[in-house]
Amino acid sequence: MESVKVTRIVVIGTGWVGSSYAYALVNQGLGNELVLIDIDRKKAEGDAMDLNHAVPFGAPMRIWAGDYTDCKDADLVVIAAGANQKPGETRLDLAERNAKIFRSIVDEVMKSGFNGLFLVATNPVDILSYATWKFSGLPARRVIGSGTILDTARLRHLLSGAYQVNPQNVHAYIIGEHGDTELPVWSHASIGVRPIADYLKEGSGPSREELDQIFVRVRDAAYHIIERKGATYYAIAMGLARLTRAILNDENSVLTVSTLLNGEYGLKDIYIGVPAVVNRSGVREVMDLNLTEEERKKLHHSAEVLTRVLKKIL
Ligand code: 2OP
Repeated sequence: MESVKVTRIVVIGTGWVGSSYAYALVNQGLGNELVLIDIDRKKAEGDAMDLNHAVPFGAPMRIWAGDYTDCKDADLVVIAAGANQKPGETRLDLAERNAKIFRSIVDEVMKSGFNGLFLVATNPVDILSYATWKFSGLPARRVIGSGTILDTARLRHLLSGAYQVNPQNVHAYIIGEHGDTELPVWSHASIGVRPIADYLKEGSGPSREELDQIFVRVRDAAYHIIERKGATYYAIAMGLARLTRAILNDENSVLTVSTLLNGEYGLKDIYIGVPAVVNRSGVREVMDLNLTEEERKKLHHSAEVLTRVLKKIL
């Protein structure tokens, strides 16, 4: 009999985001071993039981509540542990608290002999992806943050409504901090094959002001959701599953992840959200876009804000 290649994913932190992601994996049949780790062991056990009962409705998968030794044979370790924003808090307010938690988590994972890829989802995600890279000693391409993948999805959702085109045909990106200083790259945005600049010139579709309002709704979306239900998790979980698929299937897909810049965009030694090609080896390459002067200024401002936080906590 031919043996099936085992692909193990470990999820650390089974709160709202971690457990929604685990559910997305089961639902989409991604990986065939899923390990759940949480400081609340009972929560991880309960999730493992519940998800195991979903497997008969989907693809075969082994799921259990494990511990850090299970990371040894993992292809992918996804970290969703840590405090999340309370109403009124920014993502950056969480930096110090969550960096402390990350030091012990990453140490434990590395002690197991782990030699795979890290995917970081906890906020502030750019700061914690950088921290994971530093703490782990792994090559930067193997430590990926969810970056602005969700903000990009939010932008596509709203533009899809405004132009009445399937979001999958909306090619528009949010880059920068996953947070208050992010920015839309209007200069490279298009609907299908048609640049948004053409619509503006022609006077069809949303006006400049309406596009600005759309961006504000994207940037502030998390605040509005947290105000209503305390946390955001379904969309980020799907985004993480999307990234997982790009990695496991060696897709070479272009996704806006948080990754280390090494001169691209005139920036260095910082993790920040930019479009990058993602495959089985992690981030294959960063796409260095030709930004307008205004976009470049905004991105540099975003990077400065992140660097200031990094200096304070690492
Ligand atoms: C979000 O953007 C809170 O970062 C989370 O939904």
